[in-house]
Amino acid sequence: TDMSDFIRGLPKAELHLHIEGSLEPEQMFEFARRNRVALPFDSVEAVRAAYAFSNLQDFLDIYYQGANVLLTEEDFRDLALAYFRRVAADGARHVELFFDPQTHTDRGVPFAVVADGLLAGMAQAKRELGVTSKLILCFLRHLDEGAAFATLKDAEPYLDRIAGVGLDSSEVGHPPRKFERVFAAARERGLKLVAHAGEEGPPEYVWEALDLLQVDRLDHGNRSLEDEALSRRLAEEGMTLTVCPLSNLKLCVVDDLKTHPLKRMLQLGLKATVNSDDPAYFGGYLGQNWTAIAEAVDLSRDELVTLAKNSFTGSFLSPAEVQQRL
Ligand code: HPA
Ligand code: ZN
Repeated sequence: TDMSDFIRGLPKAELHLHIEGSLEPEQMFEFARRNRVALPFDSVEAVRAAYAFSNLQDFLDIYYQGANVLLTEEDFRDLALAYFRRVAADGARHVELFFDPQTHTDRGVPFAVVADGLLAGMAQAKRELGVTSKLILCFLRHLDEGAAFATLKDAEPYLDRIAGVGLDSSEVGHPPRKFERVFAAARERGLKLVAHAGEEGPPEYVWEALDLLQVDRLDHGNRSLEDEALSRRLAEEGMTLTVCPLSNLKLCVVDDLKTHPLKRMLQLGLKATVNSDDPAYFGGYLGQNWTAIAEAVDLSRDELVTLAKNSFTGSFLSPAEVQQRL
């Protein structure tokens, strides 16, 4: 359609993408076969049928199970490269990707295997597709802060190749304040800071991400709109929100894309961006998230251009690099 052609042609960046969430069922079987890992499914169709979620935890259980097939540096490189090929076809020029090292180190896969594999895929994507990228290390919030500190220590030899740290996994019951010290340590090391907040958790968690973690960018943030003072604060600060429409639909954060808050965020002057989160699990890559939300809430071309611009100005590229790309 005209709309999807227009969207594909807009240079844009993806700022909220969990690389483990780009593992397609076909690739899950391929990695399971070559690594001789048993899968609890006997077909790609059976895997897809299991992707019916009623909340975040439902999804996380199956997402962590899927990650068990990832063992070697080649697996992580191939995973990243397959994602970059898809997102390049959607017109993405830059990606800031999350990875969850604890999901792998807790299974005995060394941090270096994960990081070297992803960095190799990122370098190849730059050479072959012209897509640039930055890596963001996420701490799993259902684990304790000591485990996050151990992960930051694992990352020490890679800190020149890691742009920032984030916070993901089960939100409710694991408020940002639990990670105040490790975020301060990451900040001292010159890392950028982001956190998932207000996806399922209350506005209070968004306040904590701002005031206690001092994040540079906020992941999701949907529930901020329940708090008028918070919405005003986010608008005044020009805080970037990485919004994930199809994820919100699949995890029942919204009942219907037509009532998705993205339009209202833009009307309130919030700096929103559109992203895919875990595209292999939620039914679409970056382009599909853009076309689905544009259609559902009837975004104008001006609004689409604003979203594309926000994706670069909200990135961790330098101001000069951003200027070159707008
Ligand atoms: N929320 C929290 N943790 C996650 C997500 C998400 O949407 N995707 C992968 N880990
Ligand atoms: Zn996410």
